[in-house]
Amino acid sequence: MNGVCDFPAQIVSPERNIKSMTVLVTGAQGQLGFDVCKELRRRSVNCVGVDREDFDLADSSAIRQALRTIKPDFVVHCAAYTAVDRAEDEPQIAKQINTIATQEIAAHCGENNIWMIYISTDYVFDGGGNAPWTVEDIPNPLSVYGVTKLGGELGAYAACKKLMIVRTSWVFGQNGSNFVKTMLRLSKSRPTLNVVCDQIGAPTYTVDLARLLCDMIEKPVAGIYHAANEGACSWADFAKEIFAQTNAQTLVNPIPSSAYPQKAVRPKNSRLSLVGLDRAGYQRLPHWRDALRLFLREME
Ligand SMILES: NC(=O)c1ccc[n+]([C@@H]2O[C@H](COP(=O)([O-])OP(=O)(O)OC[C@H]3O[C@@H](n4cnc5c(N)ncnc54)[C@H](OP(=O)(O)O)[C@@H]3O)[C@@H](O)[C@H]2O)c1
Repeated sequence: MNGVCDFPAQIVSPERNIKSMTVLVTGAQGQLGFDVCKELRRRSVNCVGVDREDFDLADSSAIRQALRTIKPDFVVHCAAYTAVDRAEDEPQIAKQINTIATQEIAAHCGENNIWMIYISTDYVFDGGGNAPWTVEDIPNPLSVYGVTKLGGELGAYAACKKLMIVRTSWVFGQNGSNFVKTMLRLSKSRPTLNVVCDQIGAPTYTVDLARLLCDMIEKPVAGIYHAANEGACSWADFAKEIFAQTNAQTLVNPIPSSAYPQKAVRPKNSRLSLVGLDRAGYQRLPHWRDALRLFLREME
């Protein structure tokens, strides 16, 4: 049993020459999609990166038309409605992008025998307990965003057998806004910052995740995977490490989530068990502290 999705006898494709493939990446201007395209091109793969200006995921017929035109051999679906708090006020739009558009893409992949990777999130879990969530654990999202991303998982699973669902957490990359960039900006003007200390998870650097996703494209094994940088911390610990690595003088004042009300409820425990990667023979990502160091070096 694989969480909500009971994957049948393992569907595995033999290692192939991905240089002869066309890989479609959605959300190519987003944090993760940008680095997936970069890594694919580094591996000399024909990568077609698409974003809102190519077609709007709110338009189901435009999605189908684009897929028929591009004729990909593999789809990496990174695009999503990622505004977690705004989703509470726009549940229909979040559902359209995260659930229905994902179903459309998966239906095309299923009908054409194409492999698909769907990027999902730790927010499908309710954050109870302290143990890392395994892929066998049953999701129970707390927010509209989490519900709609889980809807994408279920829709993709129903439509496409050659499917890898990759749940990640706390993403940071060069191309877009994220917690690291926000902390660096605030540290320029604020001597002290209140940061939540009772949500625990793993930061994930898009460059490391992109490398894993490209390994998965080279040797796909159907299933659900959890993928994040090694280790875990609170947002407050993460902020302290960002300031330590950049020699910023800002002090972190750890506060509970209850002192920092947000529209969407976040899971307290976002730890993800990574053992599924070992089982399928994929290489884990480095520790989040090392990933942060590389990210900061690249930003310079
Ligand atoms: N960020 C995180 O901390 C985090 C954590 C766990 C999982 N994830 C998942 O990881 C994946 C990548 O996240 P990310 O941080 O790279 O996201 P991101 O930076 O917000 O990028 C999302 C991309 O999707 C595009 N998009 C949104 N709505 C669209 C629409 N209607 N039509 C076409 N494109 C649309 C966005 O374009 P616009 O800029 O034009 O809107 C953007 O390029 C997502 O599936 C997300 O759910 C993210």
